[in-house]
Parts: sequence; structure tokens; C-alpha cells
Amino acid sequence: MIEIAYADWIELGFRWLHLIAGIAWIGSSFYFMFLDYSLRQDDGLPLGVKGASWNVHGGGFYFMQKYTVAPEKMPTELHWFKWEAYFTWISGFSLMIIIYYWGAESFLIDKEVMDINVWQAVAISLAAFVLSWFIYNGICKSKLGKNDLFLSIIVFLMILLASYGFTHVYSGRGAFVHVGAMIGTIMVANVFFIIIPNQKIIIKALVDGEEPAQFLGDEGKQRSTHNNYLTLPVLLMMISSHFPMIFSTKHSWLVVGLVIIVGGIIRDYFNSKNQGKTGNRLKWQWPSASIFMIILILFVSHRDVVEVLEENQLDSTDVLAIVQTHCVSCHAAKPSNKDFVKAPGGVKLETINDIKKYGSKIMKQSVLTNAMPLGNDTQMTDKERQGIGDWIRRGMPVDE
Ligand code: HEC
Repeated sequence: MIEIAYADWIELGFRWLHLIAGIAWIGSSFYFMFLDYSLRQDDGLPLGVKGASWNVHGGGFYFMQKYTVAPEKMPTELHWFKWEAYFTWISGFSLMIIIYYWGAESFLIDKEVMDINVWQAVAISLAAFVLSWFIYNGICKSKLGKNDLFLSIIVFLMILLASYGFTHVYSGRGAFVHVGAMIGTIMVANVFFIIIPNQKIIIKALVDGEEPAQFLGDEGKQRSTHNNYLTLPVLLMMISSHFPMIFSTKHSWLVVGLVIIVGGIIRDYFNSKNQGKTGNRLKWQWPSASIFMIILILFVSHRDVVEVLEENQLDSTDVLAIVQTHCVSCHAAKPSNKDFVKAPGGVKLETINDIKKYGSKIMKQSVLTNAMPLGNDTQMTDKERQGIGDWIRRGMPVDE
């Protein structure tokens, strides 16, 4: 018998594409940032060349020269770098539809956070992506956009505000993925609406024998620098769905802030190094990124110690009953939840032995964080979570 899990194959296909396109995009972003910074002025470079860089790779030497804004004459063959960005977004948005819109009830909505239906959840999501681009783009084009440092602080605060909003509308996991997807959308929109169109205007001017406006190139450079600094934080947000300690703790919007700071600082180290900076200019990044990372870890790991009094301690029958109520609709060989045809993640929780087998994972998913039950339709209480936690800490005793 052949039984094809179509949904899984489609999801796998898009995930694969998303990774491939993302790697290609980030690779070219990193390379061109490096290239830009490694350009050195030299006598004897052709007219209009800002700088040149020697690279060695794959058995040969490359001599790269950058014309700002453009060479005098259009080259006959010109290579663009845009499809990797577009495909990253197309595949990413497809995954958003397949996982978070399709499975909104499980993955996106948490009725304890906000009682919304699937259509409202999807509408808010789409509106947020569009709106965030208009706000970001408006700020960059306004007077505020003239000062790079000031602009980055405002963009940072805007992302923080959006995270605060998302965490008050969606489940922790849904919110985190939305912050990542929102930033990713802004990054692709930078390529689609600014960088590439500006480049095309420059080319047209060139073909018409006119002098291209310098600000078009500057604007493109500013946006691609933003993209570059946002890369590392977005990557962490995209893989965070496997780590409930990141997305499913209290005030996870502050976690977003710390992730952006850490990722941005590390990126700055490499950018400064590529610029040929030395000494003190390279000394502050790793120590301060480490300090912020430690703050992040302590922040998500800090919790009030709850003592479960002896008379309130759960025995294995109580635990089994709680798990039956809150988990088994999905975590069974044949789940009753219509969204699942088999136990998600292969995790079955039907017997006390199953539960013991996954004790440490249950601790992470349902006690230390609220990641499970997914969607929390059955409204598992804090008291139940603490009771199970206490039982696991006592070594999961099973009554005779
Ligand atoms: C609505 C369905 C649903 C309910 C209810 C649910 N889960 Fe899950 N659970 C899932 C899905 C889906 C995954 C796979 C998550 C993923 O792909 O990241 C999962 C994964 C897990 C994992 C594996 C995580 C890992 O590290 O791979 C554990 C452990 C878990 N759930 C425990 C629980 C517990 C305990 C409960 C009840 C308190 C519960 N789940 C309730 C859907 C559910």
C-alpha cells in the first residue's frame, strides 16, 4: 500500500526551497557587504571607480572594482541579484499559509491571549505585514532617515512595538514567527521596491547618456545595510519554533529586542573587520554581545519558585488525567484533533510510561514554558503545570 502524506511533502518542499533561497540571499548579502568594505582606493583605477578589491577563491584571483554610481557605458552582460530574495519570501510566505494560516487554530491562535477566529487572525497578520512596510519605508524616506544611527534606533523601536503587539494577539510561537516574517518582508520589500527599481533608474539614465543621481545609489546602499544587520536576528527567530524557552516565556517581546541587539552587534564585528578596522574598534563587540546573551538567557530562565505543598502533590493517576485532558487529543496514535492524522512529532502521551519517556520534554514544553498544549484550547492552568513539574522533579513516581 502506498500512503502519501501530501501535506508533509508540500511543507518539506517549501522548507527546502526556503532554506536554499535564504542561504543564497544571505550569502550574496554577506559577500557584497564584505566586498564594499574591502574596496581600496588605488592609483591607476579607471575613471568612476570608487575602489577595488582582490579576492582569491576556487583556484584563481578575482579583481573586483566598484563604480559609483555607474560606469560610463552599459556593460553588454549584467548579472542581477534579486531572485534569491524573492524566492525566500515566496517560499516563506507559502510556509506561513500552510502552517500558520491553515493550522491557525493550533499554531497561531491562543484564546487566552486573544479570543479571535481564524479569519481575524489571518487578516491581522496580512495587515501587519503591509502596514509595517509602509511605516518603515515612510520613516526611511522622511527627514529621520538622514541620520543612520538615529534611523536604526527608530527601526529597532518599531520592531519592538510590533513584537509587543504580536505577543498580545497570537500564541507565543505564532508571535515570534510573525516578528521574523515581518522583518523578512521588510527586507525583501527593500530589494523589490527600492534597491532594484533604483538600480533600473540608474541604468536607464546611463543608457540615455545622462548622469545618474547619486542619492539613488545611496538609498539602495542604506537599505541593503539594514538588511544585512537584520539577517542574524531573523535567522534566530525563524528557527526559534523548536525552542519554547525563546518564544513562550513571559515578555517574549523583550527577548526579540535582545536577539536583535546580539545579532546586530555580531554583524557589526564582521562588517568592521571587513572594513579593515583594527584595535579598539573590534574589541567591544564580542564581549558586549556575550553580556547581552547572558542577560537574555537569565531573563528567559528566571521564574518564581513555586512550592507544591505535600498535600497538593499529584500522583501518577492525576498526571495521567491532566495529560488526557490537555494533550491526548493530539498526542495519540490516532489523534481526535482533526488537524492531525498521527501523533505530532511522534510524541504519544497515552500511557504513564509514554509520559515518563517524554518527562524532560514535557517539562520544557508545558511546565517551564506554555508552548504546549498547542493553541491551549483546553485552557491548561498554571496550577496543573506546576503540579506536573513537581511530579517530574520528584522523579515521576508511579503508584502501584
Ligand atoms: C492541538 C494539538 C496539540 C496538543 C493539544 C498538544 N500538543 Fe504537543 N505537539 C503538537 C505539535 C503539532 C507538535 C510538534 C511541534 C513542532 O512541529 O514543532 C508537538 C510537540 C510536542 C512535543 C515534542 C517537542 C519536541 O521537542 O520535539 C512534546 C514533548 C509535546 N508536544 C508535549 C505536549 C504536552 C505535554 C501536551 C499537553 C499538556 C501537548 N503537547 C498538547 C500538538 C499538540
